Amino acid sequence: MDKNNKKVALVTGSTGGIGTAICKKLHDEGYTVVAHYRNREKAEEWNTKLKEDGYDLPLVMADVSNFDEVEKMFEDIKNRVGTVDILVNNAGITRDGSFRKMSFDQWKSVIDADLTSVFNCCRHAINPMLEGGFGRVINVSSVNGQRGQFGQVNYSAAKAGMHGFTKSLAMETARKGVTINTVSPGYIATDMVMAVPEDILKQIIAEVPMGRLGTPEEIAEIISYIVSDKAGFVTGANFAINGGQHVY
Ligand code: CAA
Repeated sequence: MDKNNKKVALVTGSTGGIGTAICKKLHDEGYTVVAHYRNREKAEEWNTKLKEDGYDLPLVMADVSNFDEVEKMFEDIKNRVGTVDILVNNAGITRDGSFRKMSFDQWKSVIDADLTSVFNCCRHAINPMLEGGFGRVINVSSVNGQRGQFGQVNYSAAKAGMHGFTKSLAMETARKGVTINTVSPGYIATDMVMAVPEDILKQIIAEVPMGRLGTPEEIAEIISYIVSDKAGFVTGANFAINGGQHVY
């Protein structure tokens, strides 16, 4: 909580397309949103743009794959804003390549940024949530963590790992009012997806029964429900939002 008794939401990777939509939505719903970034230059540009749109959010920096940096980030948030009630683990990267060409660095950088980061942030967020009797953690996974994707052994492994992490941690925290859930977006119109070669992206969209990319706002909408008090009985769940690309 912050000093005005408003719930504090930390959104990692806030400067990306989905992160931006989540920050705006949670701010609009009355939460105090702390925006995490990795790249200072990009964050400054982002912050200027958001201020023009009427959003003035506290910013924090860390390499979320680094445990010590995350510890310092949580101390910084506690000192400047308050304890984190809602954690959205949204930061992530891709380093696509077919497995036969994939380097160890391509593997490790994605596992560290997309999965170890979830451990690092949860490890610092969970104990205060348990002590306070309320908490919400949303792990932003991907359709490709559920179904696999040519060229994404590293990313699919990290995103699939989030599901096991979510389900196990949900069991450990359920009795204390702390819910842990996963949201699995399909292909959403963000810079990350737009970086896929055009011909390949066309083929991917053709596989989506809705025939289009999703929007960041469609992801933010479900997250605003999961973090709300209304979703108190929802834990260990996965919310797949992929236009029908993967149904099960
Ligand atoms: N299925 C089967 N075979 C395929 C294939 C596919 N989807 N794509 C390529 N191939 C075949 C090619 O036809 C080619 O075959 P031949 O060797 O017989 O000619 C071979 O595989 C090419 O293999 P390469 O190792 O040379 O692959 P490449 O270097 O040309 O490209 C790639 C590999 C970079 C991964 C490229 O396929 C690619 O960019 N794919 C898109 C990956 C993707 O969807 N990323 C999502 C990013 S966004 C995101 O991740 C957000 C989210 O959560 C959804």
